[in-house]
Amino acid sequence: MSGVITGRTGAPASRILGFGGYRPARVVTNADICEHIDSSDEWIRERSGIVTRHFAAEDEGVVEMSAAAAAKAFAASGVTPDQVDAVIVGTVTHLIQTPSAAAVLADRLGIPDPAAFDISAACAGFSYGVALADDMIRGGSASLVLVLGVEKLSDMVDPTDRGTAFIFGDGAGAAVVGPSDTAGIGPVVWGSDGAQADAIEQDVFWTTLRDEPGHAFPKLKMSGQQVFRWAVFEMAKVATQALEAAGVTVDDLDVFVPHQANMRITDAMIKKLGLPDRIAVARDIADTGNTSAASIPLAVSRMLERGEAKSGDLALFIGFGAGLVYSAQVVTLP
Ligand SMILES: CC(C)(COP(=O)(O)OP(=O)(O)OC[C@H]1O[C@@H](n2cnc3c(N)ncnc32)[C@H](O)[C@@H]1OP(=O)(O)O)[C@@H](O)C(=O)NCCC(=O)NCCS
Repeated sequence: MSGVITGRTGAPASRILGFGGYRPARVVTNADICEHIDSSDEWIRERSGIVTRHFAAEDEGVVEMSAAAAAKAFAASGVTPDQVDAVIVGTVTHLIQTPSAAAVLADRLGIPDPAAFDISAACAGFSYGVALADDMIRGGSASLVLVLGVEKLSDMVDPTDRGTAFIFGDGAGAAVVGPSDTAGIGPVVWGSDGAQADAIEQDVFWTTLRDEPGHAFPKLKMSGQQVFRWAVFEMAKVATQALEAAGVTVDDLDVFVPHQANMRITDAMIKKLGLPDRIAVARDIADTGNTSAASIPLAVSRMLERGEAKSGDLALFIGFGAGLVYSAQVVTLP
């Protein structure tokens, strides 16, 4: 005799209830970067839009930065840690294979017994996490989800590599996602192109450290032009699909928060999308650098703090990076 499984359904919709961001104290200037590479402040500003970035302290890792960002997201949302039932951490720089940063973070925050896991979706990690949280809440497997995008890229970047040293920074961004009667998170448009896996990648497996004594610590390598071309040509299409999926147009949009990869990529996307001048655009890369999974929540939490974006605004998020992977959705800001 076979039984019938009892199914479960969740809330009709979900929305983001609050954001929080954390930038480490140490500010690193272009002049600091140029001590190790043949470059200049002028070249870095012109080609990337980056003026300064933050590097974490030695004893400050992915979990510590996440805890600081999460505390702000809790304060902004009015949710307390004991109410959370799932924790998702998007990161590619938690440099221990297991356990997950999410499980350790949850314990650190006093979240009792949540589902907890990390996702590896590089610069799309936060947008992936928000999409999962939305599905979990609507599917009934969670009610309140803490989503993090966090990176300590300074551990993975070779300060003498001209192609990457100036781009990346450290930081954490958090969002609390919860149930809603009306949709505050639009359908995600996401995907990947593993044929371009070598466009941004860790240069060797961790096992190289074991098998080749004296080998340098693994580092990120990047084909900058390849990534730049892909982002400029493909990502505007993805952004348009996310608007269509949410049933809105650029005329309905108030805020545009693209992954903070390069100011020139942001400018090219604005042009391709035909965004009206009135739309507030995240330009956090100037003093935060490219913080991969952290870049979208860091940028949007600062825009909210500064009044450049406000509660109820319609925002378009789009993340893209190593994989290659991408992810976009329209959200209502808390
Ligand atoms: C990395 C990036 C800023 C480089 O800019 P670019 O305009 O593509 O630069 P190129 O690699 O074509 O190099 C142009 C010239 O600058 C030089 N150059 C490269 N790096 C330099 C540096 N750090 N400082 C000074 N000159 C540099 C090159 O040698 C080249 O010189 P040449 O014309 O005499 O041969 C750009 O490709 C980029 O932002 N790519 C996307 C990266 C990204 O978003 N990554 C993260 C995705 S998550």
